[in-house]
Amino acid sequence: DRLPALLRAMPKAELHIHIEGSLEPELIFALAQRNGVTIPYASVEELRAAYAFTNLQTFLDIYYAGASVLLKEQDFYDMAWAYLERAAADHVIRTEMFFDPQTHTERGVSMQTVIDGLHRACVDAKAKLGVDAELILCFLRHLSEEAAFETLEQALPFRDRFIGVGLDSSELGHPPEKFARVFARCRELGFHLVAHAGEEGPPAYVWSALDVLKVERVDHGVQSTKDAALMKRLAEDRIPLTVCPLSNLKLCVFPDLSQHNLRALLDGGLVATVNSDDPAYFGGYMNQNFTETFAATGLTAQHAWQLAANSFEGSFVDAAAKRAYV
Ligand code: ADE
Ligand code: ZN
Repeated sequence: DRLPALLRAMPKAELHIHIEGSLEPELIFALAQRNGVTIPYASVEELRAAYAFTNLQTFLDIYYAGASVLLKEQDFYDMAWAYLERAAADHVIRTEMFFDPQTHTERGVSMQTVIDGLHRACVDAKAKLGVDAELILCFLRHLSEEAAFETLEQALPFRDRFIGVGLDSSELGHPPEKFARVFARCRELGFHLVAHAGEEGPPAYVWSALDVLKVERVDHGVQSTKDAALMKRLAEDRIPLTVCPLSNLKLCVFPDLSQHNLRALLDGGLVATVNSDDPAYFGGYMNQNFTETFAATGLTAQHAWQLAANSFEGSFVDAAAKRAYV
């Protein structure tokens, strides 16, 4: 069977990766030691054993605890560099990396420290790995819209170092409408707009991400198959969905990978893509998401080609560069 080799070798874009979710337990322990931070786990094995999640919130609690070891510019660089090397090995030639500044600024780390470290890794990735890497700033939706506005204000001096804004963290109870005004402002400022919607939340959240926030791309969006009119809208407007199969499995969005609806999304004509979300926590980077999902669902080489093409169509590379990729 040559399909796994094709999946691994094909050039691809990653459009849904939280850089804080690429922090491996080994690096968490190394940074904790380097920075004199104590974490409530005795060993790498004990930490990894805690990665047994039942829903999004049980994951987020551990994910934010893990990020507490990040203090210095070099820490952010090291985290991003480790991910970018993994991405290059998986033939990711374009990546649009989410970062969660509020997770760090709330602990007293400056916006400049965060962005300097991540951006320096992006610059080095282009030069040393041939990976085209950009940043997307995410607002935490469990915090207030006012806090998002403050975060935007702190980030604007560095606006040339991120290409867009997103919305992540606890979805249920925090609908897109909560962030209508800050997204309108980001739109005026010329940022690309994305939001997590329809991961655990209902199709109504995907509708409001589109119609209220005016996002260009929906992160996850897998609950959309419950709403035929929404499926039609996503297909007709060619709104990309950044699907994360191993994440959905580990957060119990689907009981089994064989039950995943990626195939239904593709068959519905949607611009679905495959992504890793938080690979250090969910047990797989890009190629593992591809090979495990294809093995479990019986997708074909034709689907592989479609997913690679979708990843470039869905990316925010400019039109001329896009023609060169596809
Ligand atoms: N932050 C990191 N991963 C996330 C996910 N899968 N959903 C929402 N927020 C996140
Ligand atoms: Zn995500």
